[in-house]
Amino acid sequence: MTGAAFAPPLLYSRCWEDDAVLRRGLEVTPGERVLSIASAGDNTLALLLDDPGEVIAVDRNATQLALVELKMIALRELVLPDCRRFLGAEVATGEWRRRTYARLRPSLSERARGAFDRRVATLERGVLGAGKLERYLTLFRRAVLPLVQTPGTVRAMLTAPDLATQQELWDRRWDNARWRALFRVFFGRALMSRLGRDPAFFAQIGEADVAESLLGRSRRAFTTLSVGENPWLVWILTGRTLPPTYLSDAFAPLIRSRLDRVTLLESDLDTVTGGPFDAFNLSDCLEYLTADASDALLRRLCDLARPGARMLYWNLLVPRDGGRLRDRLDPLDTSDLHAADRVFFYDRVVLERAAPVPTKTR
Ligand SMILES: C[S@@+](CC[C@H](N)C(=O)[O-])C[C@H]1O[C@@H](n2cnc3c(N)ncnc32)[C@H](O)[C@@H]1O
Repeated sequence: MTGAAFAPPLLYSRCWEDDAVLRRGLEVTPGERVLSIASAGDNTLALLLDDPGEVIAVDRNATQLALVELKMIALRELVLPDCRRFLGAEVATGEWRRRTYARLRPSLSERARGAFDRRVATLERGVLGAGKLERYLTLFRRAVLPLVQTPGTVRAMLTAPDLATQQELWDRRWDNARWRALFRVFFGRALMSRLGRDPAFFAQIGEADVAESLLGRSRRAFTTLSVGENPWLVWILTGRTLPPTYLSDAFAPLIRSRLDRVTLLESDLDTVTGGPFDAFNLSDCLEYLTADASDALLRRLCDLARPGARMLYWNLLVPRDGGRLRDRLDPLDTSDLHAADRVFFYDRVVLERAAPVPTKTR
């Protein structure tokens, strides 16, 4: 059996974290070195807008790294509308996408070819819908949403002119008993751990009622964020992609000109070397770890941090932060960042600044 047979699954084909929050929080300045969880690549690429000297995009999942590479090569070698069509942000035939992959293939590494030669059908459908989470949310859009909201209600929510109209719509039509009941089943632990997420994610959650927490956060989404302008909500509700930053007319050219600053690294965060770094995008990785392991990882990352370096990460369902490392990490206020977070399902954003390494006293 070849190594490719063991290629890990594609968990995410888009980043489910708000790149605007990440960039505002990390405040990367020209020339800085960044360590960024690769994931689906969108946020790592968006960080290039802040002119870092180098971004190390790390992931322990080789297929995620292959996806980031595919996005980077597509961005480098295709004109922007073709890049959007190839990835699946805009319509194209499967045949055209297959031919375009054949054109890009010579520029890809062995790892990326290994991942995508065996996923040609996925590429034909557009890779942006192919992650485990995206397939789960597509199932929600196709099988659940039509049972709980009429097309007219969905359209009204997407075109509401202001938040007051959204709030009224939520109260009068959206937040009905069927919505709550089916939401609880679909976003409950049992179904999500089988179909939507890496089961390892649920190991640290304990007894928390996952569906109830997410239901509360959906209320925040529909009543405090502009639904029609929110790329994540628009995609969940309609399957239409509002171009993410790295595919947008306004920002893609600058990102493209800086792609050579990204290095892809297959590694666990635990074993990364090569500091010092000035900024860290840690996604919500700490939540997969026990509290002790999370502390140990943060301590290790502090050893790779320049004094004053920023670390940003999200908590979805498990509270994790550097509270037991206050000699190494100073917390910064993130209430504004959380309020502005367009990816509505997080409980909080954590932003901490690395303190100078403490001098030992004997
Ligand atoms: C943490 S996941 C979460 C994505 C998104 N926040 C969500 O919850 O839907 C993002 C990426 O982190 C990678 N990852 C998780 N823990 C990691 C670790 N300790 N070291 C390296 N990569 C890790 C996963 O392989 C995945 O590609």
